[in-house]
Amino acid sequence: MARLRLGVLISGRGSNLQSLIDHFCMADAPAEICVVISNNPGAAGLARAAASGLPTLTIDHRRFGSRAEFDAAVNAALLDAGVELVCLAGFMRLLTTEFVQAWRNRMINIHPSLLPSFKGLHTHARAIEAGVRFAGCTVHYVRPEMDEGPILVQAAVPVLADDDEDSLAARVLVAEHRCYPAAIRMIAQGRVRIEGERAVIAGSGEMPPATQFNPA
Ligand code: GRF
Repeated sequence: MARLRLGVLISGRGSNLQSLIDHFCMADAPAEICVVISNNPGAAGLARAAASGLPTLTIDHRRFGSRAEFDAAVNAALLDAGVELVCLAGFMRLLTTEFVQAWRNRMINIHPSLLPSFKGLHTHARAIEAGVRFAGCTVHYVRPEMDEGPILVQAAVPVLADDDEDSLAARVLVAEHRCYPAAIRMIAQGRVRIEGERAVIAGSGEMPPATQFNPA
């Protein structure tokens, strides 16, 4: 079966990119990374991609007069690379509605909260502040409204009494690195269809562990 062609958009550290590299680098993987694009020339993720021999591109948003022009350049680069699924992985630019519509149901994002709770930035600090007992991450299709769109995969982690932003972020990040490849694998295997604004996954495998309590 042909491998699903991924384009990964980053702005920084690139640890999620690394998890995609680790999952999809072997020849029999159902997807392959065709291009990694960063809007930030200093993004550490660019070095990760280059170290794995992946094609990288820097499209510095500061060189464009408008969001629309920047998005058009990104769009052209994605088309050039034959990308079929765009994966936002810590990409810190808002995309125009036009760009999002052009990639509708062909662009996904990972967000470090259990959506629809805690959209936007500083999710971990806000989760601790709110006193929630579980935090987590969400992989979802992208819609023009920030952090909206059909949910593919979520993972929950407990929030512990002595957590600070960093300790919670680290726990969530471990879950992110499992969720993102899992979601892409489901899409690549053709198991996902979108009904209304819900993503329906065929053959969802095993039953997740039964109810968890926190504190136990
Ligand atoms: C992750 O927490 C991701 O959920 C969010 O931005 C962060 C990016 O981290 N969208 P990295 O660059 O993948 O390490």
